[in-house]
Amino acid sequence: MSRGKVIITGGCGYIGSHTSVELIKNKFDVVIFDDLSNSKEFIMDRIYQIAGVKPAFEKVDLSNPIEADRAYYKHSDAHSIINFAAFKAVGESVEKPILYYKNNLYTLINSIEAQKKYGIKNFIFSSSATVYGNPNRLPITESFQTKRAFSPYGNSKKIAEEILEDFSKAYPEFKTISLRYFNPIGAHESGLIGELPNGIPNNLLPYVTQCAAGVLKELQVFGNDYNTKDGTPIRDYVHVVDLAKAHVKALERLLSGNMKENYDVYNLGTGKGVTVMDIINTFEKVTKEKINYRITKRRAGDVQALFASAEKAKNNLGWEATLSLENMIETSWNWEKTFRDM
Ligand code: UD1
Repeated sequence: MSRGKVIITGGCGYIGSHTSVELIKNKFDVVIFDDLSNSKEFIMDRIYQIAGVKPAFEKVDLSNPIEADRAYYKHSDAHSIINFAAFKAVGESVEKPILYYKNNLYTLINSIEAQKKYGIKNFIFSSSATVYGNPNRLPITESFQTKRAFSPYGNSKKIAEEILEDFSKAYPEFKTISLRYFNPIGAHESGLIGELPNGIPNNLLPYVTQCAAGVLKELQVFGNDYNTKDGTPIRDYVHVVDLAKAHVKALERLLSGNMKENYDVYNLGTGKGVTVMDIINTFEKVTKEKINYRITKRRAGDVQALFASAEKAKNNLGWEATLSLENMIETSWNWEKTFRDM
């Protein structure tokens, strides 16, 4: 029996597509809203191939209030919204701040407005560890003060969280969870969905796989003078399939009626810190491919070390990351080798 309808905004994207698969497997009816500005419609077929059900699809620009209202009205029988729809290129957001604030915040505001208008009770927001800025201590727990982010992209996540908190205070009948992702990598084990690159990647893993595939010539390692075991920065890399499963757990939490507060936040990470050199060395070991890399100067805005305390998600959601770094790298590489033939 169906567990009801869930709207996934940005459901053709990287984390949205993996989450759609997990929700379908868990018997939810999935409707995807996507403007396809940074994703492809064939992902719908891929979701079908993996999960056995093709979600309903609305091509909609949610930053446009009229379009957004039309789509939400059509699916106003949904009980929940999971909001992935956002621009995410950090560098581009520095060059085009208005574009980023407009797209990421209008989309959010139009979605919660529809939530209120149509009585869609539950909301999950795709946030980021970037809201912690450069933390004073590690591991990072959810009680840490959030800080103004370095980039408009990051700041749009922080502002969005604040909007959602205010919304839940004003309208207690609506429940919201923000999920703060650490560094999502990896792809589905089927090789059918993964992160689709848009131009030259900013993030480490897509850059590494494209270097190994010969698409890019050389990886720059941004600094080896940090105070870490090998001088390169530490991050908490987490498998996208583990992340997707966390959304199912968060949704079940919202639906359970067991939430003490009607707004809550969770870190999603493994709790383990991994350096850039660990990534390169593990990649070479797992794939037997060489990475052509060069140490360069630090990248502006990078912090030395970030890793999560994943205890709250474990205790309250019953979620824990289970997939290994080797698996994350293997599936990323598998995806890199196959998607170009599509
Ligand atoms: C970045 C964003 C963050 C966003 C997250 C997920 C910045 C400053 N932060 O986080 O806001 O939420 O992506 O999209 O951009 N590295 C290299 N060479 C490269 C690329 C990366 O050495 O070509 C290093 C970086 O210095 C960093 C690590 O790899 O230490 C991870 O980088 P990246 O994948 O860009 O993630 P974050 O910087 O953690």
